[in-house]
Amino acid sequence: MNDELQDIVKGIKSYVELEKAMGFKESFFSRAEERKPGLLRATCLEDLCKEVSSCTECDLHATRKNVVFGAGNAKAKLVFIGEAPGHDEDIQGLPFVGKAGQLLTKIIEAMGMKRDDVYIANILKCRPPENRTPLPAEILACCDNVRRQIEFINPKMIVTLGKFASQTLLKTETPISALRGKFRSYNGIKVMPTFHPAYLLRNPDDKKLVWEDMKKVMKEL
Ligand code: URA
Repeated sequence: MNDELQDIVKGIKSYVELEKAMGFKESFFSRAEERKPGLLRATCLEDLCKEVSSCTECDLHATRKNVVFGAGNAKAKLVFIGEAPGHDEDIQGLPFVGKAGQLLTKIIEAMGMKRDDVYIANILKCRPPENRTPLPAEILACCDNVRRQIEFINPKMIVTLGKFASQTLLKTETPISALRGKFRSYNGIKVMPTFHPAYLLRNPDDKKLVWEDMKKVMKEL
């Protein structure tokens, strides 16, 4: 065991001893395992999907109709990440199936692909009531799911749709207008931030900017 690992083990041991001294019946580590048993065990996308389908880590589980884990090719080269499911997605249990989703499908087809060729997911897997912006506690509870999803799919490239997905995945507060169109990196994977299709429905003139971004993605792929 190297020195660093020995220090970590020592630290854990003294923490567990402190817990005992303070009268805790169980260790934090066993409680953590109890809270997220699936996340510690899932070794593939399918298992992760099963585990997330019964998630109760944040309050959104109480109001959701369905968990919207993600859909598409589990070995996709290209992954699209949005914000959170809306009304239609919550009902169908599938990402991007409402009006914004139909526009996303058109964008994917214009890129010469089908929805089944790519993988589509969201940062949050449950619908925030009234489609409000996700809360920090919800992001914290859910962001590990998208991280592991990306890890299992291991795509060549990710397109983040809109401000929320782009800023969350890239851990930045830079506005989407400044982020879009330029490649970034997420754990060694190229990321192209672009406008959200729902924004494009309200601002159709900006569709040409998204098309510029998608041309860069196609060139790289
Ligand atoms: N908007 C999103 O960000 N995700 C969806 O799945 C649908 C709409």
